[in-house]
Amino acid sequence: MAHISNPARLRGFIGALAELLQTQAQEPQVLERGAQLLSELVSHDDWLPAEFAQPSPERYQQYVLHVDSAQRFSVVSFVWGPGQATPVHDHRVWGLIGMLRGAEDAQAFQRDSSGALHALGAPQRLLPGQVEAVSPRIGDIHQVRNAFDDRTSISIHVYGGNIGAVQRAVYLADGTEKAFISGYSNAHLPNIWDLSKENPAP
Ligand SMILES: [Fe+2]
Repeated sequence: MAHISNPARLRGFIGALAELLQTQAQEPQVLERGAQLLSELVSHDDWLPAEFAQPSPERYQQYVLHVDSAQRFSVVSFVWGPGQATPVHDHRVWGLIGMLRGAEDAQAFQRDSSGALHALGAPQRLLPGQVEAVSPRIGDIHQVRNAFDDRTSISIHVYGGNIGAVQRAVYLADGTEKAFISGYSNAHLPNIWDLSKENPAP
């Protein structure tokens, strides 16, 4: 098991988010404060263990780092190999995307009255330390790709549920929905709870 160089960062983020959700039920406030907390987390690239930063040549990887015990939120390391992209998809819960390493381009979509999907504005580039939000309330359909063809990019995602188990959709070019449950790429979680490494007995 790889050593986690700075587990307090992720542990602190998880604790702060759980506390936020305990005291705040309104999505706009959760997204605003959650974005500040996530921005702080992804402004430091010294805490993600290497095994949750591994790209796969086949497809982008979604490593779950933590799921809240009541499944109110989940934290995922999203690892893009060179040139990899998602299909057009939605989330059905709120989500925060924080760029840790490299860069990604996100294209938002919206439905017209006939149900067809159209690109909404230009793709938005996300750089390390930056955070963006999605949700059914503010816009939930997008397509995301690694901005680079020659290197790995990594973003840290936080969702208002156990995202790997959420029943949601990917969209075909004509706007047709296809049911989709993403699951996760990893079988084991990072151990951020062994405080003896940080506070050794005297
Ligand atoms: Fe997404």
